[in-house]
Amino acid sequence: MADSYIQKLFSERIGGSRFGKDTKIYKFEKIKRAKREALAANPGAEIIDLGVGEPDEMAFPGVVKRLSHEAAKPENRGYADNGIQQYKDAAAAYLKKVYGVKNLDPQTEVLHSIGSKPALAMLPYAFINPGDIALVTVPGYPILATHTKYAGGESYHLPLDETNGFLPRLDKVPAPIRKRAKLLYINYPNNPTGAVATKEFFAEVVEFARKNKVVVVQDAAYAALTYKGRPVSFLSTPGAKDVGLEIHSMSKAFNMTGWRLAFVAGNERVVSAFGHIKDNYDSGQFKAIQQAGCYALEHPEITEEITEKYRRRLTALVKTLKAAGFDAKMPGGSFYLYVKAPRGVKGGRSFNTAEDFSGYLIREKLISTVPWDDAGAYIRLSATFEAKNKKDEERVLGELKRRLTGMELIF
Ligand SMILES: Cc1ncc(COP(=O)(O)O)c(C=O)c1O
Repeated sequence: MADSYIQKLFSERIGGSRFGKDTKIYKFEKIKRAKREALAANPGAEIIDLGVGEPDEMAFPGVVKRLSHEAAKPENRGYADNGIQQYKDAAAAYLKKVYGVKNLDPQTEVLHSIGSKPALAMLPYAFINPGDIALVTVPGYPILATHTKYAGGESYHLPLDETNGFLPRLDKVPAPIRKRAKLLYINYPNNPTGAVATKEFFAEVVEFARKNKVVVVQDAAYAALTYKGRPVSFLSTPGAKDVGLEIHSMSKAFNMTGWRLAFVAGNERVVSAFGHIKDNYDSGQFKAIQQAGCYALEHPEITEEITEKYRRRLTALVKTLKAAGFDAKMPGGSFYLYVKAPRGVKGGRSFNTAEDFSGYLIREKLISTVPWDDAGAYIRLSATFEAKNKKDEERVLGELKRRLTGMELIF
């Protein structure tokens, strides 16, 4: 069938007249297809899904109850625009209580967002002109880089290397790149590596930003999920508020992925510009959801309970992976394990990439993982696998162990 005229109208940012005709299959689509094929080849078998990046449990009952209560109130029915003050107050109080962040003005330095993904998508429009650069860590969550491109800018990759604790080497950014850079995107605890930032690294980031006049966007989607010591906020670094902001999400810390609620906090000028862009995109999250978010933020013990569950699961995963030959270590934060992919199986297949190995795991062992080949070949395994209760969790982990043992992996 001939293309309709519409095909010629697509913008260059989404591929122009080639939009939708690209035959390249993207990683997450490949994973989905491989899962479907593995199930078709093994009817009735169970896939152990360690690929998902979201909690397997509901939001806690107190949060759900508050939503139901607030949803019935007429005053919550309308547009929320740039948010209700109670949520901003609760966010500032939460940052103070959990992270020790002082001196945040909840009127001007905090703003809600319909999840952190839209915040990452909108921030480039406040800063990036054609030709400007965003410095972004790789592997990583790509949204800020994608929208930097949409805005006519470019992204410059900062590889996360195991030898540097998966922290970017800011001193390696060439001078001409620094000159054109306007944004620096970092994400700690990090997806996918599970690394946490040190206080020294955050101090280096502030110094780098000040010296090179860039705005820091610290994506704290996993901030509260840490396993070694208290969670750290970029905003508790001296000078952080002068150079950027941090984005906190309700998604992972409170099992609220589908609720779509997050907040940005930090520099007043950056928050204000974000609010300006946001006001031109959406009309705010449902006020009842923001009220339920207040309940969650007032109950950080919810996150502590969630963290303990992931600690238990990650500890068991590390043990199982080590027994299978992987160099697995407990991550500092997040719910991910990031391990080097093997080069092959003794007397059998060899793998050129992590994607090859991940494909083998799903086809041969019905284990779903996410491969990363951006800075070395690694696979990511998530502790959010589906399990109905603790007993079921033990069953899944036992099954994983059974499937992984006996494979002689070569690294
Ligand atoms: C690093 C990172 N940032 C942001 C997000 C998006 O979170 P939200 O649900 O708040 O949009 C994710 C989701 O997986 C993520 O991994």
